[in-house]
Amino acid sequence: MDQYFVLQNGVKMPRIGYGTYRCTDGSDQRIVAMALEAGYRMFDTAAIYQNEDFVGKAIQESQIPREDLFLTSKVWKTDLGYEKTKKSFEVSLDRLQTDYLDLFLLHWPKPTPSTEDWKALNQESWRALEELYCQGKVRAIGVSNFLPHHLEALMESAEVRPMVDQLELHIGYLQEAAVQYCKSFGIQVQAWSPLGRRRVLEEPIVLNMAQKYQVPPAQFLLKFLLQQDIGIIPKASSIERMRQNLELPEFLIATEDMYLLRSLPQMGWSGEHPDLTRVPPQSSVAPGCGPA
Ligand SMILES: NC(=O)c1ccc[n+]([C@@H]2O[C@H](COP(=O)([O-])OP(=O)(O)OC[C@H]3O[C@@H](n4cnc5c(N)ncnc54)[C@H](OP(=O)(O)O)[C@@H]3O)[C@@H](O)[C@H]2O)c1
Repeated sequence: MDQYFVLQNGVKMPRIGYGTYRCTDGSDQRIVAMALEAGYRMFDTAAIYQNEDFVGKAIQESQIPREDLFLTSKVWKTDLGYEKTKKSFEVSLDRLQTDYLDLFLLHWPKPTPSTEDWKALNQESWRALEELYCQGKVRAIGVSNFLPHHLEALMESAEVRPMVDQLELHIGYLQEAAVQYCKSFGIQVQAWSPLGRRRVLEEPIVLNMAQKYQVPPAQFLLKFLLQQDIGIIPKASSIERMRQNLELPEFLIATEDMYLLRSLPQMGWSGEHPDLTRVPPQSSVAPGCGPA
């Protein structure tokens, strides 16, 4: 399988990256160094994760050439607006000890679900991203957690179309409307929480499928997304799990199983939605959704 997606501007983005959100309880860089050792070259971070410093330090110490890496960061939702977005970008660059980013995203489309001027805020932020892109300070620009109506509003004034939308996606939460919308506009979809932050890892249907295809459940969940041309950025804390998530064996999930898995009731949702007040994560599957 090709290791990259080619974004609409020709930039190659690895299909698999390492998600750094809460990747360590401390604030040192060893976990990122471990991910580099495991073979990851794409790292997903964000201003709000407060870990850009140690991601940058691990990368510096690895002496891996910068051009071999793909670094993503995001501007937090309280920093929307032209000036704040530009400032946030500069702080991220500084913390990551680099002079460019490979991908910079607007993290959420609204500061709060009730924010009324979200359209104007996003349009202003996007203008800042477009400038950074045109100045060569970032190789690709995009969004995260943007649903079709947020993208439509953004594109009303955009001169450069978003290249990536990073969304919560995993078995039981497939956001089909957003994914279809992105595909129709050539926006590459990337899944956050591709393992549902473990909430879907031990669902009977997942265990059953993993057994059928003779792979660990995590590999099955990740393959399920990749087979739909959705990028993944799983987070793991041991080198074994990091490798398991990166080195997926060659196997193909049968079409009938893909249909079955894409038709499951909702499960494992984080409880986060840009237009709704946050609710507790959904912990278990709907009744009757055991092995087929
Ligand atoms: N854009 C956004 O709004 C947004 C929101 C959330 C997350 N993200 C990004 O997406 C990344 C991934 O999402 P996530 O961290 O929420 O969840 P995730 O990657 O779906 O799941 C991580 C959990 O799965 C476990 N795990 C990893 N590999 C495993 C394996 N092979 N077998 C068994 N368990 C395994 C990890 O355990 P151990 O750590 O103990 O190994 C951890 O508990 C984040 O790190 C972040 O970069 C973005």
